Amino acid sequence: MADGALPLSAYTPAVEAATAAIREKLKDTVTPLEWRLQAPLIAEINALKRDRNAVVLAHNYMTPDIFHGVGDFVGDSLGLAIAAARSEAKVIVQAGVMFMAETSKVLCPDKTVLMPDLEAGCSLAASITAEDVRLIRARYPGLPIVTYVNTTAAVKAETDVCCTSANAVDVVEWAAREWGVDRVILLPDEYLARNVARQTHVGILAWKGRCEVHERFDAEDIAEMRRSWPDAEILAHPECPPEVLAAADFAGSTAAMSDYVAERKPRRVVLITECSMADNVACDAPDTAFVRPCNLCPHMKRITLTAIRDALLTGAHVVEVDPDVAARARTAVQRMIDLPRPAKPARYDLVRAGHAVAVELI
Ligand code: 13P
Ligand code: SF4
Repeated sequence: MADGALPLSAYTPAVEAATAAIREKLKDTVTPLEWRLQAPLIAEINALKRDRNAVVLAHNYMTPDIFHGVGDFVGDSLGLAIAAARSEAKVIVQAGVMFMAETSKVLCPDKTVLMPDLEAGCSLAASITAEDVRLIRARYPGLPIVTYVNTTAAVKAETDVCCTSANAVDVVEWAAREWGVDRVILLPDEYLARNVARQTHVGILAWKGRCEVHERFDAEDIAEMRRSWPDAEILAHPECPPEVLAAADFAGSTAAMSDYVAERKPRRVVLITECSMADNVACDAPDTAFVRPCNLCPHMKRITLTAIRDALLTGAHVVEVDPDVAARARTAVQRMIDLPRPAKPARYDLVRAGHAVAVELI
């Protein structure tokens, strides 16, 4: 263990001192008993990061002990991709799912990217293969292919540009302009595609992929929330079915939802998304009450403090992407990063006007 690292299996006074600021942030979220188990691991991970010149990129769906305890960069898929590209650390530990780790490796081929659990997948990434994309390209020559970052590097390599839920409308409109077409292929999330189509005049060709977490929400869930909590503002992720977004007050990426709460400080809010999101946002929003009708992502929940500690201790599991695949995927991801960040996450002028939505399933 590194010089200055703490002897850390127990909740010692040294651990207590090293984690005091994090404890303060988590005081309403983590029980004293949980904290005595988490604090030694948090202190150990933070010491190992210094020793290994490593950073932890933590997605908004990580549990609060990870998100607030050991995350050096936290945020949505877009924010983490940008952080990976800019990081000067030698080692990146991806506290998220496999497609995010691959994206980090694609953007940082010279860094070591560690994935604490190789089984942390994603139903969207699993819904489409590189061969599917090649067949789609052959069937629709001349149309640009925009791919959600929730895909494998092999799929990204077949695509023209990536998007996340934070920038999907802007990327689709950019691609239509660049290619001089009025239709764009947007893969693989059918609901994201339908929700993007409500906010643009560009026609969308979509795939039938679904997020297994967000597809479980329905319009009745929102109606029930409205009946139970009439004063609550309801925010939903764009991977939810369109009828859920239509009934919500706001739709946006995980970062956009977090920003909404930070900026508007609603008295009461409902986040229609993965469970840990509200726990993390609540730690920084003492004046907002949270209603928590969430669904767990089993893939995100595979990442634990113990798995992160073990990744740093043992160097497992190193994420590799074939250099040719990585180079082609990098072009698509970098194009997305180089586009200006959208000023506003959603185009509600079109949604409110109820404009005709053009979506065709491939
Ligand atoms: P964000 O890009 O909004 O962080 O979403 C990623 C994700 O996996 C949501 O299910
Ligand atoms: Fe994939 Fe959905 Fe889990 Fe996000 S929440 S990682 S989209 S399965």
